[in-house]
Amino acid sequence: MTTDRQLKNLWFKFFEAHGFKRVAGYSIIPENDPTVLFTTAGMHPLVPYLLGEAHPAGNKIFDVQRCIRTGDIDEVGDNSHLTFFEMLGNWFLGSCPKEEMIKLSYEFLTSKEYLGLPKERLSVSVFAGNETAPRDDVAAKAWHDCGIDKVYFLPAKNNWWALGGGVGPCGPDTEMFYDTGKPACSETCSPACDCGKYLEIWNDVFMQYFVAAAGQKAEKLARPNIDTGMGLERTVAVLNGQKSVYDSGCLKRVIDFISSKATTSYEASASSIRSYRIITDHLRSATFVLGDERGVVPSNVGQGYVLRRFIRRSVNCARNIGLDCKYFADIANIYIEEYGQDYEDIKANAQKIKDELQKEVEKFSKAIEEGHREFQKVIKGIEKHKEFAAAKGEMVENIISGKAAFRLYDTFGFPVELTEELAKEAGYSVDKQGFDEMFKLHQEKSRQASAGMFKGGLADTSKQSARLHTATHIMLAGLQKMFGKDVVQKGSNITPERLRFDFNLDHKMTAEEIKTLEEFVNDAIKQAIDVKCEVMTLDDARNSGAHGTFSNKYGDEVKVYTIGNVSKEICGGPHAENTSELHHFKIVKEEASSSGIRRIKAIID
Ligand code: ALA
Repeated sequence: MTTDRQLKNLWFKFFEAHGFKRVAGYSIIPENDPTVLFTTAGMHPLVPYLLGEAHPAGNKIFDVQRCIRTGDIDEVGDNSHLTFFEMLGNWFLGSCPKEEMIKLSYEFLTSKEYLGLPKERLSVSVFAGNETAPRDDVAAKAWHDCGIDKVYFLPAKNNWWALGGGVGPCGPDTEMFYDTGKPACSETCSPACDCGKYLEIWNDVFMQYFVAAAGQKAEKLARPNIDTGMGLERTVAVLNGQKSVYDSGCLKRVIDFISSKATTSYEASASSIRSYRIITDHLRSATFVLGDERGVVPSNVGQGYVLRRFIRRSVNCARNIGLDCKYFADIANIYIEEYGQDYEDIKANAQKIKDELQKEVEKFSKAIEEGHREFQKVIKGIEKHKEFAAAKGEMVENIISGKAAFRLYDTFGFPVELTEELAKEAGYSVDKQGFDEMFKLHQEKSRQASAGMFKGGLADTSKQSARLHTATHIMLAGLQKMFGKDVVQKGSNITPERLRFDFNLDHKMTAEEIKTLEEFVNDAIKQAIDVKCEVMTLDDARNSGAHGTFSNKYGDEVKVYTIGNVSKEICGGPHAENTSELHHFKIVKEEASSSGIRRIKAIID
């Protein structure tokens, strides 16, 4: 049996042996990025470096990155989709012949010293070409030279990799698939097919292009990169000859734990398998979001909303299989134990994770009660309607409209199955087709919302954003001067128009305090201080008194930005060169973001 840890160690050993340097993975909540809610891939936090900034660790790096992807949330429950997963990544920042990366991939996958997968079970896809980039014959030839003959040319839909919304660094990729042994679903079955025969385990992206804004054409990057990502859980499943990612490691432990407590067994039906898996997956994601150093709690917006969805969906699934939600804390404990070694914030926030899970379960139970009342109202409404209709000699059927069922789902968190159950008891049925249509529409809307995401953020290295970033550092220094060193950043989001900054503080700032903070920043601007950037080891940074979170164990070298004696922070940049570029700083809003967290919006003009 291969464990997650063993696979990570093989990854580290392999890339170290090939002259790559290990860097720290980032938080699951992106920093300074207004465009995505979660870190979705290892490359995400590296965008500035993919666009040309020098990385302190050099041009060849590797890491393991915790990721959350919600785009596939409806697939969760099958054998391979997860909302949270760990991605093993490596990068060539700056040009490298793609043949070299393909050779490395082949070696890692097939060499006995590493994964030792039989090459007969491997197939790959490469880019078929379009008006932006030619057919990738170079990659195809490199695979053939390695001895892989199952090479499929696929279109951009499959083999062009970009961040959500298609904006930012991007390029053609080559994806590696493992044949699970399932019979082909048709004569044309290929890695493009999602029947389950081919499982994608690794992706090498040739990041040679850049899209500046939605709808614009891809431009060639002056300095191309290679960005790769391997799915840890999937690869472990392949190495263990298992059908699903839930068959090994801590996911299996959680499935077993649930089995010992639920009234319905795991394999009782397709629906119970799905429910077990959704709880297992979603509570892991919730543990990571709640445990993150940036301090997210369930809410109706942003990350908090997704977190709420993870927990509430788990509650519904628990109901399906007869699992008492009081066991959620034990499930979280399994994850805290497993991941606490690598992710210290999960360990440090263990109590908060369990408390917040409990609170949200209680809140949801209340909402469900309200939903029951709402359901009764719906029934009464139909009864009234029936009376009126009868008076006119018309008939109204006992059907709850798709719209009403969707409102119960959307506003009160009522799963449609629950509505159907109650409807049946009351002698009604539910227009399920209408519900499904509403649901699809809603899903499409949220997909579009998350797809249109990547428009500024890390890809936005504009001068104005860099200046606002510098203003953020000065402002945090000011906040710490006023309220003590315990005040830390809880979130930051910068567009060229404004900064938005979340921090912990136990009270609403008074007008006087806001003025003092503004003066502090404007004073630093007036002093026209040079912003200095130095690369040093994390230990040196810590010893130099630089502010920053030190929860990452790895990533030897960091950048430290110093603004005279005003501020010293560990940060990826970019920043203004001199504070005078900021002209004038003004706070436009100070408000609560969540309990104990304040939010400032500010501009420079
Ligand atoms: N960024 C690439 C991916 O996520 C490697 O698949």
